[in-house]
Amino acid sequence: MKTSTFLVIGGAGYIGSHLVKALIEQEHRVLVVDNLSAGKASAVLGGELLVHDFDDRAFLDSLFKTHQFDGVFHFASQIVVSESVKDPGKYYRANTAATLTLLEAMRDHDVGPLVFSSTAAVYGEPQYTPIDENHPTNAVNPYGRSKLMVEQMLQDFANAYQQQYVALRYFNAAGADPQARIGEQHNPETHLIPLALQAITGKCPPLQLFGQDYDTPDGTCIRDYIHVDDLASAHILAMNYLINGGDSGVFNIGNGQGYSVNEVIQTASKVAEKQVPVTYAPRRAGDPARLVADANRAKQVLGWQPKYADLTLIIQHAWAWEKSRH
Ligand code: UFG
Repeated sequence: MKTSTFLVIGGAGYIGSHLVKALIEQEHRVLVVDNLSAGKASAVLGGELLVHDFDDRAFLDSLFKTHQFDGVFHFASQIVVSESVKDPGKYYRANTAATLTLLEAMRDHDVGPLVFSSTAAVYGEPQYTPIDENHPTNAVNPYGRSKLMVEQMLQDFANAYQQQYVALRYFNAAGADPQARIGEQHNPETHLIPLALQAITGKCPPLQLFGQDYDTPDGTCIRDYIHVDDLASAHILAMNYLINGGDSGVFNIGNGQGYSVNEVIQTASKVAEKQVPVTYAPRRAGDPARLVADANRAKQVLGWQPKYADLTLIIQHAWAWEKSRH
């Protein structure tokens, strides 16, 4: 791709900051808009950072009048499934309504294309695995529905206003920059790999293992962990595809390989050379037994190939990042 100028909304967050790093490495110009409610200024390794809410129409109007963007990446969202059940208004406001403001501003200023962060949560309880993009979308919680509604808006905007988009349905984002400059730092942290590693360092209490009675070989849930740098590369390929006239659509991004919670705990213990302290807890509400991606569409259409598909490598990078923070 020739040197381009991109807007990255939510570029100070976990996944967005890894995309910013990759764009900078490819010598693109980057403007990050992030209100730092979850992101960190220190995670933005290059480009310019504007600390602002992205769903402020006057702000977007002035941004699009003063800057010429070749494309927009939109990461900013609320992501905690359990919180979305308790406070759905927050999720529909931050994830759905705010994105509508962005889409309208992009339409009115003729800005595009857009690569949007969607999620495997749009599928709900899987009817079959691996899950391909034709699997029905029956999101089972407000978080998943808030993202699914955006996908529907994107499709309608593409039909009506020819606004090009790709929605990437992430499976379980994991790992960190191989040089440990940036990585996962949610607050509160709810994800398995950082919680397992922080249980080892003592930063967190022993890991609660949610459910051992699932219909899986070892009774614990199976997930498809995808390295955050591989997610970043998928975004760049998706943008390139759209810039070259590719059709709008949705793509799964995952390795196609599932690991159980027990396997993750064992691998984390091996990588850290210390056993993850574990307590056993009942099932967490809303956890499907098995979520594994069929990402062949992304491979065939975008030319995407994961570079860090190995779980040990993913956890090694997460561990190096975790240690660098102590
Ligand atoms: N788990 C535990 N203990 C913990 C945390 C997680 O046992 O303390 C288990 C969960 O029950 C699950 C697995 O580890 O079986 C992975 O859980 P995560 O919270 O790390 O990830 P999820 O699969 O729940 O969520 C991810 C994304 C969500 C997205 C969802 C479906 O983080 O944003 O995938 O796509 F909605």
